[in-house]
Amino acid sequence: MQQQHPPVSQQFDDVYFSAHGGLAEVQHVFHTGNNLAARFAACQQQGDTFTIGELGFGTGLSYAATVQLWQQAQHQQPANQQNNAKLVFVSVEKFPLEWSDMVAALTPWPAVLALLTPLAETYQQHSSANQPTWLTHEQDNITLKLGLGDVADILPDYPSNINAWFLDGFTPAKNPAMWTPEVLQYIAQKTMRSTTPHLNGTCATFTAASAVRRGLQENGFHMQKCKGFAFKREMLMGNM
Ligand SMILES: C[S@@+](CC[C@H](N)C(=O)[O-])C[C@H]1O[C@@H](n2cnc3c(N)ncnc32)[C@H](O)[C@@H]1O
Repeated sequence: MQQQHPPVSQQFDDVYFSAHGGLAEVQHVFHTGNNLAARFAACQQQGDTFTIGELGFGTGLSYAATVQLWQQAQHQQPANQQNNAKLVFVSVEKFPLEWSDMVAALTPWPAVLALLTPLAETYQQHSSANQPTWLTHEQDNITLKLGLGDVADILPDYPSNINAWFLDGFTPAKNPAMWTPEVLQYIAQKTMRSTTPHLNGTCATFTAASAVRRGLQENGFHMQKCKGFAFKREMLMGNM
């Protein structure tokens, strides 16, 4: 990774997150795109387990920002009504960054970086291991499951109850392996179908590429375009 902000992958010639604000981008694309604030509040009230599936762990920004949103929902719940709700965050990474690069990437957001820091030891132990391998990290009522390896090898082992997807490979033109028809098919297969609105599966992505929209539609998602982050005209969100 090139040491600059936002971080850039030389291999893929693409940024890990927007130059207009990585945290704000995660909040716009993945949190709002999956309506997470309201759904997390409902989980807190009802003691549900909510599972997020991400493609592309990268710097860990989306994960740590989501832990922050989950904790905010938890703190808004009166103490005598806390129902032991659980968050499971499942992700994949083929090219794990050095821990020091992840810390540097998240430095503009100290409160978010603090939520990534407990992962340091486990991440550094696993990221140098022979791939593919799974890392599990538990923190209060939050579990991270990170598959280290290629998406094609790891995605089949994702759980089949994903409530919300963060589709965050590099842009499809530069990183086609993260957006193949097989990957899009697995995403749909692994998505929760539920008549309980806050648990029924959704997906969101920064790209508006028509092949991605069509591929998700063909596998059962109702897709819509909405305003992208910052200068981006469009992004995609969908629900089962
Ligand atoms: C846009 S970045 C993800 C940013 C990340 N969500 C964050 O919060 O920093 C895309 C990620 O996908 C990973 N990636 C690219 N091709 C992959 C593949 N075939 N399998 C697994 N991961 C891959 C890249 O190494 C990179 O970390």
